[in-house]
Amino acid sequence: MVDAYPQLTDRDTLLDRDCTTLSRHVLEQLHSFSAEAQDLSAIMTRIALAGKLIARRLSRAGLMEGVLGFTGDTNVQGESVKRMDVYANEVFISVFKQSGLVCRLASEEMEQPYYIPENCPIGRYTLLYDPIDGSSNVDININVGSIFAIRQQEGEDTDGQAQDLLQSGRNQLAAGYILYGPSTMLVYSIGNGVHSFVLDPSLGEFILADENIRIPEHGPIYSVNEGNFWQWEESYRDFIRYVHRHEGYTARYGGALIGDFHRILYQGGVFLYPGTGKQPDGKLRLLYEASPLAFLVEQAGGRASTGTQDILDFVPDRLHARVPLIIGSKNDVALVESFVKERIREKAVL
Ligand code: AHG
Ligand code: MN
Ligand code: MN
Repeated sequence: MVDAYPQLTDRDTLLDRDCTTLSRHVLEQLHSFSAEAQDLSAIMTRIALAGKLIARRLSRAGLMEGVLGFTGDTNVQGESVKRMDVYANEVFISVFKQSGLVCRLASEEMEQPYYIPENCPIGRYTLLYDPIDGSSNVDININVGSIFAIRQQEGEDTDGQAQDLLQSGRNQLAAGYILYGPSTMLVYSIGNGVHSFVLDPSLGEFILADENIRIPEHGPIYSVNEGNFWQWEESYRDFIRYVHRHEGYTARYGGALIGDFHRILYQGGVFLYPGTGKQPDGKLRLLYEASPLAFLVEQAGGRASTGTQDILDFVPDRLHARVPLIIGSKNDVALVESFVKERIREKAVL
C-alpha cells in the first residue's frame, strides 16, 4: 500500500522551509513548549516585528518628509541623534507594550532604562538594544542594523536603575541583530548555535536561511577605521603594520558595526575598534553592541576581546559603559591580542 500522503520530513521541501519561521525555530531550539520557551519565542517574534517596521521605514525613507536627517538633539552618548534613531527606538518600545513579557528596555538612545509598567508585575525579561547601529549610514542608503540582547531580571529593581544589568555578558539568554541590507536579515542565538533568517516581504515573515553558522578560524578581512591610526596605542599600530606587510589580507570597513561583523561572520577575519587617547575605552558600548555580538561570535566558534580580556567576562560599572572591541575569527583575534600582550610585556621590563 503506497503511502497516499508521504510525510514532509525534511527541511528541503519548499513548504516546510517557508514554515520554518523564527517563532517555530526558537521552540525547536529549546526542544520545549514550556512557558519560558513560549515567552522567548514570543519575544523573538516581537523583535522580528520591530525589524519589519524599521525595514519598511528605511525602504521609503528617501521618499518621505521628516524621516532622514538629524533631530538637532544630542543623546546620552554625546552623539547627534538621527530621526531614524528616535523612530527605531520608539518602535522597540511600542512592540513590547501589552506584551506581558518585557518589563524594561535599556537602549543606546535612552539615559535610563525604560519601564513598561503593565508588564512589570509579570514580565521578568529585559531587552537591551541599539535601535539603529551605523547611524552615519542612514542618510546615504548604506546598510545599518539593530542589535539586541535578552536578559532575565535578577532581584527587585527597586531604584529603577537596573543595577542587575551590570553583570558579565555570560548572563545573556539570547542575542542577535537585524541587518537592513539588500535583504533584511535577522541573525540570533539562544545559546544553541547561530542562525540566520531572511525577511520574505511576500509573506511578511523571517524565514530560516542558515543554521549553525560557523565563523572560519581565520579570514582575510581586517575591519578598522584606519583614520584613527595616529590615536591608537602602539600595539594596534603594530597589527596594522603586520597586515600591511603580509599577503592575504583585505580591508573592509563600512561604518556600521553590524555590516562589518556580518561579513566577518561569513568570510572570517577581525573587526577592531581600539581605544584612543580621547576615548581610552573606545567608542562601542558593551551592553547593547559588544556583548550581544560577543555572545553570537562565541556561539559561532569565534572570539571577542577587549585586547586583554574576553568581552563576555567584562563587568561594566554603568549602563552605557564603552569597551575596546576586537571580534571575529579566533586566530585573528588572537593575533591582535598578541601585539597587545607584547607591548604590555615590553612596558613591564622598562
Ligand atoms: P551607532 O550608529 O549605533 O552609534 O554605532 C556606530 C558605531 C558602529 O556601528 C561603527 O562600527 C562605528 O560606530 C563607526 O565609528 P567611526 O565612524 O568612528 O569609525
Ligand atoms: Mn551602534
Ligand atoms: Mn545606534
